Amino acid sequence: MDDFLRANRLNWDNRAELHATDTTGSYRIAAVLGGGSSLHALEAGEIGDIAGKDIVHLQCHIGLDTLSLRHLGAASVTGLDFSPAAIAAARGFAAKAGTEARFVEASVYDAAEALGQTYDMVFVTWGAINWLPDIFRWAKVVASLLRPGGRLYLLEGHPMMNQLEARDGHLDIEFGWRTPLADPLAFDDVQTYTGDERALSHTRCYEWIHPLSDIVNALLQAGLSLDFLNEHEVVVWKAFPFVVETGEDQFELPAGMPRIPMSFSLGATKRA
Ligand SMILES: C[S@@+](CC[C@H](N)C(=O)[O-])C[C@H]1O[C@@H](n2cnc3c(N)ncnc32)[C@H](O)[C@@H]1O
Repeated sequence: MDDFLRANRLNWDNRAELHATDTTGSYRIAAVLGGGSSLHALEAGEIGDIAGKDIVHLQCHIGLDTLSLRHLGAASVTGLDFSPAAIAAARGFAAKAGTEARFVEASVYDAAEALGQTYDMVFVTWGAINWLPDIFRWAKVVASLLRPGGRLYLLEGHPMMNQLEARDGHLDIEFGWRTPLADPLAFDDVQTYTGDERALSHTRCYEWIHPLSDIVNALLQAGLSLDFLNEHEVVVWKAFPFVVETGEDQFELPAGMPRIPMSFSLGATKRA
């Protein structure tokens, strides 16, 4: 693991501890422990039929969506994350909920060896691929985890939105559209994004913006076919200070501001 990913892991260990004891309601812990779901309306409406499917959730964080997929009818669920604190929390939540799930600690790039099996579905959502330097390598991992005919569901913040910073009530283009592999964007957030007031001790993290065309081309080259590509005007976190909440944990730009895509989703199927 290189220095960028090592720094990110420390940052995510730190965040996982705070999120596992979340008091802001952002993670819908009570709903999942009660046998329900933490999925937002957007992904719940798009994932399609998961009944009886074996699903792997990459970058599962503290495992709440992983457990939710099982509660929604998946035959088996596996969560993978490189943060030991996140995996420990996920296992704790599975035990508390009484939900069968496998949680594996590994980098996404080592997923095939760490998991040792294939799946009907790879599930990746909200703040995952921006932590990965090489999107083409990621797509090969996704392909290696899918059985022929198996599906990827990906839902992410839109790369165009990720280029912008809010300043004086408007949006400036702050970052380039394609972050070089060896020169990531560096951030030092003193708090996590849930509104939790506790301070992070490992503030440094590194991120990469991947163009939509790279994401799609990487999947096509890895042997998947595109089923759909959607762009949405909403996102599930307060991406900018002036966004307005238009649904449960659903935010968009205020009326009068030019619309931009705030998130995107795609479905892709592994070719036989
Ligand atoms: C914003 S969270 C993803 C949230 C997720 N959608 C959920 O279900 O809560 C990002 C996660 O990616 C994980 N992560 C970041 N880089 C990773 C890598 N290289 N390999 C595996 N996990 C990684 C972090 O530990 C963190 O748990």
